[in-house]
Amino acid sequence: MTLVPPMLEAAGLRKVFAGDRVAVDDVSLTLAAGGSLAVVGESGSGKTTVARMLVGLESPTAGTITLDGEPLAGGSAGRGDRLRRARRIQMVFQDPYASLDPRQRVGDGLAELLRLHDQEDHHHPVALLEQVGLDARTAAARPDALSGGQRQRVAIARALVSRPKLLVLDEAVSALDVSIQAQVLNLLADLRTDLGIGYLFVTHDLAVAQQVTEEMIVMHRGRIVEQGTTDRVLTDPGHDYTRNLLAAVPRQGWRPARQ
Ligand SMILES: Nc1ncnc2c1ncn2[C@@H]1O[C@H](COP(=O)(O)OP(=O)(O)OP(=O)(O)O)[C@@H](O)[C@H]1O
Ligand SMILES: [Mg+2]
Repeated sequence: MTLVPPMLEAAGLRKVFAGDRVAVDDVSLTLAAGGSLAVVGESGSGKTTVARMLVGLESPTAGTITLDGEPLAGGSAGRGDRLRRARRIQMVFQDPYASLDPRQRVGDGLAELLRLHDQEDHHHPVALLEQVGLDARTAAARPDALSGGQRQRVAIARALVSRPKLLVLDEAVSALDVSIQAQVLNLLADLRTDLGIGYLFVTHDLAVAQQVTEEMIVMHRGRIVEQGTTDRVLTDPGHDYTRNLLAAVPRQGWRPARQ
């Protein structure tokens, strides 16, 4: 029997920032191809730092990250290595403004990315926009003419240019109105089905995590305090910290299934 390695495997990840601040301590996680993993925990628990190490925006103080069994180069990697990693793992941030050039038309930005990733013969900006549920006319718009939901769709289209195997989404729907949030979550679910792409979903919103992930990691002060299937963690939390997190859910109308 051949053992297929998980698509993503992180082992013993640690990040110490200047001033001896331990942001992430001994975090190990795996994600199967096409799987979806939530990383939840209170503010400052290290979620973003884990995400940034996975995509190569931050170099781990210790630990290893492998994608399809291949070690990923660390933060000192050259441009070629970074580009290769970028082709396989893409990140979507909470604030799409930060990753969109306000002066550049959406279509021009996508065309530029397609050239960067040598994809211009295979994909077209308009096709990418349609893939994320946007009208072809969006190509001519500048980011400030778009709504928050449209901008986040553009950010997702940009992340898909390199045909990544994994999307790391850091609070990617947190700034959106609930109804727009639901639409973007549906889009993400559809893309996962269509493209077989995997998600690592950083969120403080347990209802969002419940909707789009099968596996969950709960972080507290840089460490994983609980992990398991999303259903199990939300309905039968094994750790006091997780129970407190569940009790603190402010949203009306959502309760763990047990209640
Ligand atoms: N570049 C940095 N330099 C120094 N400390 C940092 C840096 N980035 C993060 N930290 C610290 O690391 C810890 C974890 O931060 P991180 O942003 O990963 O938390 P988070 O779980 O994403 O929080 P939030 O839910 O507020 O986004 C925090 O104490 C934070 O202050
Ligand atoms: Mg964060």
